[in-house]
Amino acid sequence: MIIKPRGTMDIMPEDTPLWQYVEEKAREISNTHGFGEIRFPTFEQTELFARGVGDTTDVVQKEMYTFFDKDNRSMTLRPEGTASIARSIVENGRCSDAMPLKLYYLISCFRYEKPASGRYREFYQYGVEMYGSESAASDASVIALADSYVKSLGITDYSLEINSIGCKECRPHYKKALTDYYTANYDTLCDTCKTRLKTNPLRILDCKNPECAHLAKDAPKTLDYLCENCTSHMKTVEDSLKSMGITYKVDTGIVRGLDYYTRTVFEIIGPGEPDKDGNVRRLALGGGGRYDGLVEEIGGPKLPGVGFAMGLSRLIIALQMSGKELPSKKKPVLYIASLGTNAQIQALGIVNKLRDAGIYAECDLVGRSLKAQMKYADKIGAEFTAIIGDNELENGKAILKNMATSEQTEVEIKALADFFKNR
Ligand code: HAM
Repeated sequence: MIIKPRGTMDIMPEDTPLWQYVEEKAREISNTHGFGEIRFPTFEQTELFARGVGDTTDVVQKEMYTFFDKDNRSMTLRPEGTASIARSIVENGRCSDAMPLKLYYLISCFRYEKPASGRYREFYQYGVEMYGSESAASDASVIALADSYVKSLGITDYSLEINSIGCKECRPHYKKALTDYYTANYDTLCDTCKTRLKTNPLRILDCKNPECAHLAKDAPKTLDYLCENCTSHMKTVEDSLKSMGITYKVDTGIVRGLDYYTRTVFEIIGPGEPDKDGNVRRLALGGGGRYDGLVEEIGGPKLPGVGFAMGLSRLIIALQMSGKELPSKKKPVLYIASLGTNAQIQALGIVNKLRDAGIYAECDLVGRSLKAQMKYADKIGAEFTAIIGDNELENGKAILKNMATSEQTEVEIKALADFFKNR
């Protein structure tokens, strides 16, 4: 048997209502906050991600699905959306639009990671990007949107954690302090981090190797190296979050795994899930931040930006853990069981009229016996059933049975749609 590639998922009809729920809420909240939907290619020239996301990041170095097309051009399945959107707005001449430019997206992304609970090789993101404002108010309003979205889904067990990683003025001082610290502890570092020390010392802070993670605890903190402007920016972001009544924590350990970030970075950390060794792993439901140099980096004008992306499968895990009643597949309001061929044909007509009126009804399509039809109606959770035979068709009336209460009501067949609409 042919099986799906590792780290991908099939989503079955009984589960899609939950996916539709998180997607619909994303669309709803994006519209309320004035973000318009952008759609863009699933694959891009590899160079976009190498330059945008950063060629020393794990995403670019280890996780990209890169292939050569028939013209021998290097292409990559998008590992995220931010770099593509920056490319898209430059290419479509949107950098001189009235600012802020507010965009949202629901996309699939591809990263060659080790699959685990909540970690896939093809996964889905809801993200937003706001361009054209350097102000702390835009950071705060994007963070507020992320926070409201998670709340609106009904997830309460999460924490919002923020940090600032400085700008191109102050970051070099921080990098120097990190390099000094890790050079002094060189022998303890894993082999990958020994290389990272030369190429991108900030990435050592993300390393999952236990020795490196232990060292990271005492590493220099970004906030101690911020320049005056970045300190004041961070303070205004915090003051704005407070004024909006948003609960957050400052976590100096958040540096994010992608290179384009400047100043504000944040993550929304979900409920803990025990792994197979019983260690509780708290998954990031989403993350984002400011990226003032990205558009220039990929060849566009100077244009600041701030955004975030949420992992839909992780939101779904958090929802399933929340104990909240979850959306499920729609059940038919009416199942019409039919007696005989003529009644089956007529039932099809009645069901079709009801569906045209927006009422979900079903009837027999596989030639079941009456007993089997009633069993099937019960299995699919029909709210009402009606048995239609020659007698019912002759006098134009059907007896509806409420499946929960067994109460019976006689209704004219041609008035069925009104009956269901007016009840
Ligand atoms: P990211 O932190 O790499 O950021 O991904 C955002 C979210 O996508 C994560 O918090 C997680 O929920 C989900 N995610 C990431 N990798 C996987 C995976 N392998 N399986 C399942 N879910 C995953 C970005 O992608 C940035 N583009 C966010 C951003 C937008 N920053 C500014 N604007």
